[in-house]
Amino acid sequence: MNEHTLSLRLERVAAHVPAGARLADIGSDHGYLPVALMRRGAITAAVAGELAATPFHSAQRTVRDNGLETRISVRLANGLAAIEAADEISALTICGMGGETIRDILDSGKARLSGQERLILQPNGGEQPLRQWLMDNGYSILSEEVLRENRFDYEILVAERAGPVSYSPEQLYFGPLQMQARTPAFLLKWQRLLRHKQQTLAHFTQAGAAVPAEKVQDITRQVRWINQLLA
Ligand SMILES: C[S@@+](CC[C@H](N)C(=O)[O-])C[C@H]1O[C@@H](n2cnc3c(N)ncnc32)[C@H](O)[C@@H]1O
Repeated sequence: MNEHTLSLRLERVAAHVPAGARLADIGSDHGYLPVALMRRGAITAAVAGELAATPFHSAQRTVRDNGLETRISVRLANGLAAIEAADEISALTICGMGGETIRDILDSGKARLSGQERLILQPNGGEQPLRQWLMDNGYSILSEEVLRENRFDYEILVAERAGPVSYSPEQLYFGPLQMQARTPAFLLKWQRLLRHKQQTLAHFTQAGAAVPAEKVQDITRQVRWINQLLA
């Protein structure tokens, strides 16, 4: 993967960035996503935000090597501290981190969101707490996708602020749109997770009293929901 050829995962994220967007890519690492989009003429401006020095320098190098210093601003910053109102960001990507981390970045940087930007989020697990944050903050989920690459299942969530929205606990767990679409990638993901959770329960049974009852109840409920989904 590089700024010319994105991974399938980042290519699918790119597909949800509106044409002509002013993009903020938070946790940009090498900066491949904003640079690839700018090279294609798909966006008009971008901020690549990075918390850590090594990926920050890597993103700076990618931007410089492509002669895009005037179009893409690389900033060393924690989460949404990388963006300012003057950037007039219209699309925000946060990809390749746990859902809880993405949620925490959004929550601690809430004041920097205008509410006009489209959020394109690619959590590595932790989708449920991330959907909960979206619901609690009035974001409606416009699109959801599950894809498999390099033996990992990835989810992409696209959301925009649209006023109060309500999702059931099962919708927060599986994804409201995924539950309806039931794509082969989505069903395969949950078949794999069902096997994994059943194995976990079997280990719990062997461990007996050592496992807290709430933990057993939680996984048992998840297994019931997944069985209902796949029935
Ligand atoms: C696994 S990489 C993902 C890179 C790229 N977004 C992708 O999807 O391929 C996660 C990156 O997020 C950065 N990161 C983690 N927490 C961050 C935060 N609070 N603010 C900015 N960057 C962060 C890390 O330094 C790392 O470079």
